[in-house]
Amino acid sequence: MSICLAIETSCDETSIAIVKDGVEVASNVVSSQVDLHAVFGGVVPEVASRLHLETIHPLLNQAMAEAKVEPADITLIAATHGPGLIGALLVGVSAAKALSLAWDVPYIEVNHVEGHLFATFLESPDLQAPFVVLLVAGGHTQIVHVVNKGEYKILGSTIDDAAGEAFDKVARYMDLGYPGGPIIDKLAESGQNDLIKFPRALLDGSFDFSFSGLKTSVVSYVKKNPEVNDADIVASFQEAVVDVLIKKTIAAAEFVEVSTICIGGGVAANSRLRSKLQEKCESEGFDCKVPSLEYCTDNAAMIAAAGQWRFDSQGASSLDGGAVSSLSLEAI
Ligand code: KG4
Ligand code: ZN
Repeated sequence: MSICLAIETSCDETSIAIVKDGVEVASNVVSSQVDLHAVFGGVVPEVASRLHLETIHPLLNQAMAEAKVEPADITLIAATHGPGLIGALLVGVSAAKALSLAWDVPYIEVNHVEGHLFATFLESPDLQAPFVVLLVAGGHTQIVHVVNKGEYKILGSTIDDAAGEAFDKVARYMDLGYPGGPIIDKLAESGQNDLIKFPRALLDGSFDFSFSGLKTSVVSYVKKNPEVNDADIVASFQEAVVDVLIKKTIAAAEFVEVSTICIGGGVAANSRLRSKLQEKCESEGFDCKVPSLEYCTDNAAMIAAAGQWRFDSQGASSLDGGAVSSLSLEAI
C-alpha cells in the first residue's frame, strides 16, 4: 500500500493530508488564516508565509495522529510547488523536502491547479477520461478538456478577473467582508436572484470568460440604487456568474463530445453553482461530478491524489526543485 503525506501552502490555508493509494483519505487537516487576513481585506503575502511557518509543525503532528500513522509508514511526500504566493509555497516545499531527506522517502512536486482537478478522483476513483472540468478559484478560471490523466487542453480561461476574484471584489466594494465568495453565497440565500438583470459576457465563439464588466455593472448599480437591499444585489450578481460558468462549460463539453462534467476550486463550493450545474447536466444528459465542499477549497488531500498519480506514472521529483509562483496546467 502507498501512503502519501501531502502539504498545501499556496495561499492562506495550511493543510496536511495523509492519503492511502491516492484515494483513501486517512486525514485532511486544514488551518485557515482567513480571519487574520480579513482585517486587511485580502491576503497579505508576508503574513501568510509567517503563519504557515508557525502552523505547519503542529498540523503535521495532528495529521499523523488522526491517520494513526508513523513516519516509517509514509511512502511518498508531496507538496504544492506552484502556482501561488512564492513565500507561502516555499514553506510547504521546504518542509516536504526536509521530511523526504529525514525519513528517506521520495518527494513529488504538485501543480496546485492539477490538485483541484484531481479532487474529483478522491470520491470518484473510477472516473474515466475524457471529461471536461470547470476549475474556478480565486486565482484561476478555466475549462479544461482532460483527454487523459496528465493530458490537458485548456478550452477557455478568464481574460480578466478569476471567478473567485469577482466574488471577492464585489464583496469588498459592498463592504460585506473577506473572502467574498462564501459571504455572498450565504447572503444570496435570502435574496431574489432575478431582480436585477446584470450582463452576462458570453464572448460568442469562445470558451473564455470575462467578469470585469459584470463587476463594474454591480458597482454602478449600487451607486445609483442605494435603497436596494444587499441580498437582492448579490443574489442577482451570483446568478449572472453561475449562468455564464454553466453555459460555457456545457457548450465546451458538447464541443469536445464528452459526457462527463466535473468542477473544482474554491468557487465550486458555491451552493447555487453546485445545484444549478447538477440540474442542467441532468436535463441535458451529462454525468456530473461535484466534489464535497472540503475538497473544493484548498486542501492537501487533492495534492496527495495528484502527487500519487504523478509519482506512480513518472517517478520522484528532484530535491533541487523550488517553488514557482506562476505555473500553467498545460506546461506540466
Ligand atoms: O481554491 P481556493 O480555496 O484558492 C485558490 O486556489 O484561489 O479558492 C478561493 C476562492 C476565493 O475567491 C473565495 O471567495 C472563493 O474561492 N469561494 C467561493 C465560495 N467559497 C470560496 N466563491 C463562491 N461561493 C463560495 N461558497
Ligand atoms: Zn486553490
